[in-house]
Amino acid sequence: MHFTENAHMSDLIHDDYRLLQVISRFGVSLGFGDQSVAAACKASGVDTATFLAVVNFIQSEGRASVDELAEEVSVAELMRYLQRSHAYFVDFRLPAIRRKLIEAIDCSAKNQITFLILKFYDEYAAEVQRHMEYENDHIHTYVQQLLDGKVPTKHTDYSVLAHQHQDNHSSINKSSHELKSIIVKYYPSDSDTQRLADTLMDIYIMEEDLFSHCHLEDTLFASAVHLLEIEVKAKAKEGGTTDNATRRNPSVEVTSEELSEREKEVIRLVVRGLSNKEIAEKMFISANTVMTHRRNIARKTQIHSPAGLTIYAIVNGLINLEEVKL
Ligand SMILES: [Fe+2]
Ligand SMILES: [Fe+2]
Repeated sequence: MHFTENAHMSDLIHDDYRLLQVISRFGVSLGFGDQSVAAACKASGVDTATFLAVVNFIQSEGRASVDELAEEVSVAELMRYLQRSHAYFVDFRLPAIRRKLIEAIDCSAKNQITFLILKFYDEYAAEVQRHMEYENDHIHTYVQQLLDGKVPTKHTDYSVLAHQHQDNHSSINKSSHELKSIIVKYYPSDSDTQRLADTLMDIYIMEEDLFSHCHLEDTLFASAVHLLEIEVKAKAKEGGTTDNATRRNPSVEVTSEELSEREKEVIRLVVRGLSNKEIAEKMFISANTVMTHRRNIARKTQIHSPAGLTIYAIVNGLINLEEVKL
C-alpha cells in the first residue's frame, strides 16, 4: 500500500505495526485519534513528505522507487530521524536486550559460557555503537556542512564516506547473525529457556529493524544526499550514487565441513590470545598460512570473532576453561 498525506495515521499502524517505530522516531506523538498523516505531522512539527517517504520505503520493503522518494525528502529531517534511530538502538534497545539476556542465562551460575555469551553480546553492542558514532560524527557532520551550503572538497563526498559505511553495515549484519547462532547452538542448559527464547525473538526483531535502518541509509538517504551535493555544487558554480543493495538479509553460507587438526590447533592458539604472527612461529608455518586457516575456520564454523571462537572451543572440548584468555 502506498500512503498519502490524507491517510489516517492510525491506519498506518494497523497496516504494518513496524511503522509504530517510524512514527515515534520522527517524534510524532501517539494518541492522534482520527488525524490524517498531514495533520499529525504538522502538529508535531515534522516534514510530512519526508515522513511519508520513509513510511512508504519501509512499508514496501525497500522496493519503492528510491530516486522518486529521494526527490521528496528533506535531508535535514531524514538525518534527524536517523539520529533518533541511533539513540534508540544505543541507549534503549541494546541495553534492554542485555538486561533480558542476563536474566535468561543466569550470570550467577558457575558456567563460564554465560559469561562468554554476554561478552560476545557486549562486543556486538559496542560494534553497533561505534558504527553509529562514526555516522553521527563524520557522515552527518559532512551532510550538515552541505546543508549549510558548504561545497565539498575534491576528496570528500558522500559516496567516499558511504563506501566505508556500507562495509560496516555488512559487518554488523554478520556479527548479529553470529550472535544468534552462538546463543541457539551453545546456550547453557541451565538457562531459563522461555526467557532465552523471548530474548532471541527480541534479537531477531532488532536485527530486522537494524537491517531496515542500514538499508534506508544506503539507499534513500544516500540518494537524497547525492541530490543535495549536486545542488550545492551547482549553486557554488553559478553557483555517486551508492550501491543500492537490496539484499533482505546477509548471505549465509551453510556448511558442515569438519575442521582439520591444524585448524583446531589454530583455534586453540587464537583463544589463548596469540596473534597471527605468534601462531605462525609456534606452528612453524607462514603468517599467510595462518590467515588461510583462519578464513577456512570462519567459513566452516560461521564464527569470525575470537570471543565466538572461544565459546566454540570450550563447547567442543578443544580447550579447557583454565587455558582461555578472558
Ligand atoms: Fe545509522
Ligand atoms: Fe549505518
